[in-house]
Amino acid sequence: MTTARAACFDAIILGAGGAGLMCAATAAQRGRHVLVIDHADQPGKKILISGGGRCNFTNLGAAPDRYLSSNPHFPKSALRRYTAQDFLALVEKHRIAWHEKTLGQLFCDGSARQIVAMLMGECAKGAVRISLGRPIRDVAHADGRYRVSYGDEVAEAPALVIATGGPSIPKMGATGFAYDLARKFGLKVVEPRPALVPLTLGGEEVLFRELSGVATEVTATAGKASFREAALFTHRGLSGPVILKVSSYWKHGEPVGIDFLPAQAPDWALAAKRARPRVHFHTLLGELLPGRLAETLAKRIGLWGELGNMPNAKLDAANRRLADWRFHPNGTEGFAKAEVTAGGISTAELSSQTMEARSVPGLYAIGEGVDVTGWLGGYNFQWAWASGWAAGQAI
Ligand code: FDA
Repeated sequence: MTTARAACFDAIILGAGGAGLMCAATAAQRGRHVLVIDHADQPGKKILISGGGRCNFTNLGAAPDRYLSSNPHFPKSALRRYTAQDFLALVEKHRIAWHEKTLGQLFCDGSARQIVAMLMGECAKGAVRISLGRPIRDVAHADGRYRVSYGDEVAEAPALVIATGGPSIPKMGATGFAYDLARKFGLKVVEPRPALVPLTLGGEEVLFRELSGVATEVTATAGKASFREAALFTHRGLSGPVILKVSSYWKHGEPVGIDFLPAQAPDWALAAKRARPRVHFHTLLGELLPGRLAETLAKRIGLWGELGNMPNAKLDAANRRLADWRFHPNGTEGFAKAEVTAGGISTAELSSQTMEARSVPGLYAIGEGVDVTGWLGGYNFQWAWASGWAAGQAI
């Protein structure tokens, strides 16, 4: 128990990532006296490495149905009140050049550093105090006030915001602190799991690892979710945007279905047999897919030789298999490689308007630490901004 004299604030925000900085800037510009505490030596480290260093800072299609949560309605309010266009307006106000890639994804033309500088600039406007590089030693709550001991200092406030994210990429300083703190205050945590993460292959499927580096556009399906984008074979299994996307929906023991030829008409193989009976099946496949992949698939299917010599039924069966190839991943590459963490502080514990815990007045949770996880493509930052903004309006 520390006896140090506490500095007083209106709100203390734990975590200087996207959500914490947005929350701090919003609250401070409303006149709140705000302290942000982060154990890292610089703010927004995940922003800096995001989008290959260019930060995919939002997505124009950031609708609630692009988020996973035990309560799919929960993100609606925050996403409606602080939209992709709102964040874009802030980016433009700071004269940060940006461009749209595919699928509504917005990136900086220059560097992700600009987004961190922008958020720090917005915090500075509100005179937010930011403490970096000092560990949080203790968080206590008594008489309606939160008391945080960090480094050799102590701060107190009537509002405490948990914005320390999830445990994905621990080597960057990510921790499960948000969950520990939530549990300490009696809030439930939905089992955290790695999401937007490569899947690993074992058993008979290890031979696909030999295709490491091969990429092709496919439709991938896990459970009810289906996406069409590039898949990449790796030395451990499957990756690429489409695999990262379905990984969030994949459950251990279930297959991942791959349509290797999503652009082909259902009868493409029979049509090719009629048009070019002397062509070998694996050659035909090699015209549609990367050569090494075509060869591996043709061998696994067991179809070798000229199309003209193949019974239609066999060609038809091969076609169906290529359209729904079942992989049985034996796991994921875990939190070490997961872009985000699914699960987290239960939304049932929080107000969707303010992010305040229903049972613990003055305690808020925002960002990735909450059980809301977006698709790949700027959706997770949009949740960080929107939830941070919602709490920033309330504290
Ligand atoms: P975030 O993790 O950003 O911030 C939490 C902060 O809390 C950190 O500063 C951390 O140091 C601090 N902290 C943690 N534990 C602590 C403790 N015990 N004590 C004190 N401080 C502590 N999303 C997207 O929309 N577009 C993209 O392009 C990408 N790209 C991307 C690439 C990579 C490699 C990764 C790993 C992730 C992405 N993401 C992404 C996801 C995105 O980075 C993520 O969803 C947000 O950063 C979450 O923001 P938060 O502020 O909630 O947590």
